[in-house]
Amino acid sequence: MKVAVIGAAGGIGQALALLLKNNLPAGSDLALYDIAPVTPGVAVDLSHIPTPVTIKGYSGEDPTPALDGADVVLISAGVARKPGMDRSDLFNVNAGIVKSLAEKIADVCPKACVGIITNPVNTTVAIAADVLKAKGVYDKNKLFGVTTLDVIRSEAFIGELKGMDPREVSIPVVGGHSGVTILPLLSQVKGVTFSQEEVEALTPRIQNAGTEVVEAKAGGGSATLSMGQAACRFGLSLVRALQGESNVVECAYVEGDGQHARFFAQPVRLGKEGVDEILSIGELSAYEQQAMDKMLETLRKDIKMGEEFAAK
Ligand code: NAD
Ligand code: LMR
Repeated sequence: MKVAVIGAAGGIGQALALLLKNNLPAGSDLALYDIAPVTPGVAVDLSHIPTPVTIKGYSGEDPTPALDGADVVLISAGVARKPGMDRSDLFNVNAGIVKSLAEKIADVCPKACVGIITNPVNTTVAIAADVLKAKGVYDKNKLFGVTTLDVIRSEAFIGELKGMDPREVSIPVVGGHSGVTILPLLSQVKGVTFSQEEVEALTPRIQNAGTEVVEAKAGGGSATLSMGQAACRFGLSLVRALQGESNVVECAYVEGDGQHARFFAQPVRLGKEGVDEILSIGELSAYEQQAMDKMLETLRKDIKMGEEFAAK
């Protein structure tokens, strides 16, 4: 397996590269790319960690050598939020970055599974999909918006609230990746129940957790370390499934049957070709159903913005 990290010199990219260097299966290749000139040096630094994963770093204008032969491409290239900004404020810069990277992927590694971390995810995934489609290489089973951070945050916060080992918590988070479009299905957490008061406090905490980090970093960026961990979890799950492991399930923002919106985050079973099966989101509580009904207009608008940008 070859995994390419794009945006690899950034806060997320370096954390993700470190985790992948330590955790990818033996024999894997890890390629780092970023426009920042330090990137080959980041790879040299990581190459001194004694794991059976080879690593190379590339910088400059052209990601081709990093993408060449990649099975999985994880993209965190782009700008991050500062206090007072919404994720949608990143659109102007990040839309163009994702568009040009998707064009490169279409030319160099059209069969790769692509995980998009760059915000606003609700929109950048739609851009990538339509760029790949225009190039005639779009496979909806191979494009993912990485929403794993919403899942791991939910696990951490539930563990904290209920005095549980957070590693034992399992929860689907559905919808999208911004504000009200992030919907943790607390009613589906096994072995624990939440009072209405807890649901009404925990749901917005999970929805606003990105902002919690942005404000705590006070102008120094957004979540990078927890996101590195989340992207590593998602990337390793994908690699395991591509290599034939069965029953690998993660939540991700994917194009499904369009029941709720063209792209929707939900649990998916991963397989040798990417998404094997999109799993049902199950039964929602009345609170969750109301939140779902409320989010759809925002989510659809975010998606449309991406489709219109890709069509320009
Ligand atoms: P960062 O500024 O630390 O790193 C971004 C990196 O992207 C930089 O090193 C920069 O040189 C590089 N870059 C810019 N344009 C590029 C291009 N065309 N090709 C290759 N590299 C390029 O930012 P970060 O904290 O790592 O965040 C990156 C993105 O991830 C932001 O958009 C942020 O909002 C998003 N993010 C998403 C999630 C999520 O849950 N999906 C979580 C956290 C952050
Ligand atoms: C997050 O959820 O932490 C990321 O999407 C970054 C952000 O801007 O909040």
